[in-house]
Amino acid sequence: MDWGLKNRLSKTISPKTGKTVMLAVDHGYFQGPTTGLKNPKEDLPKLLPYADSLFITRGILRNCIDANTNVPIFLRVSGGPSILGELSNEDITTSMKEALRLNSVGVGMSVFVGAKNEDRTISNLGRLVNEAEDVGMPVLAITAVGKDMVRDARYLGLASRICAEMGAHIVKTYYCEKDFDKVVEGCPVPIVIAGGKKIPEKDALQMASNAIRDGAVGVDMGRNIFQSDNPIGMIKAINAIVHKNVSVKEAFDIYKNEK
Ligand code: 5RP
Repeated sequence: MDWGLKNRLSKTISPKTGKTVMLAVDHGYFQGPTTGLKNPKEDLPKLLPYADSLFITRGILRNCIDANTNVPIFLRVSGGPSILGELSNEDITTSMKEALRLNSVGVGMSVFVGAKNEDRTISNLGRLVNEAEDVGMPVLAITAVGKDMVRDARYLGLASRICAEMGAHIVKTYYCEKDFDKVVEGCPVPIVIAGGKKIPEKDALQMASNAIRDGAVGVDMGRNIFQSDNPIGMIKAINAIVHKNVSVKEAFDIYKNEK
């Protein structure tokens, strides 16, 4: 792996623990103002000290995040449809030059395996990796799951492996109770999990803990952090699971004690 790419990756995946807590706040790129993220300027700064990187669009980055921040930036570079349209109809919306200008440590896009535009999104990933390799930029591929797709190990394993085959350096997918270790086993690059819809805090902590146990290198989590009644407690608790391997009970205490 080229030095620049390796160095950028080390800003997200801690060289000390080999793990990462990415804070995903890109939801507005197709959902508009999302609960917990309606005012990113106010909602986000307090969470940044506990994140290894921030997964965000250029618009929210420029308008809502202080340029003096130390948090490494992973830039969402795909988009197109809104929540009202065909979600798989995505293209690359942000250039590699822009990612460099914004001092990003990585770029990310969604791939819609099994959906109407799967072929276009997969070849877009290949093209993004070509451009990224030229400048030493890590690519995070996100296995977006369409409305009709089952989130089981077979599907998630298929989608994750395809992303790795296209050259993604990290894959973000969903956790599944059964055989998640097989999803990890079939994907030769590090896997992080998305949190998905808001669930009770203890369940979200359990999911993160299970994912780490099964081989994920961390999380790229959003709603289960910023929609919690205690977002700081929640990100601290997730951080302790990911980097310190604390038990779910200990993590839940961290969440509660922050209140
Ligand atoms: C949306 C995304 C989000 O970044 C991803 O879903 C993570 O957020 P959450 O934990 O809320 O699911 O990629 O397409």
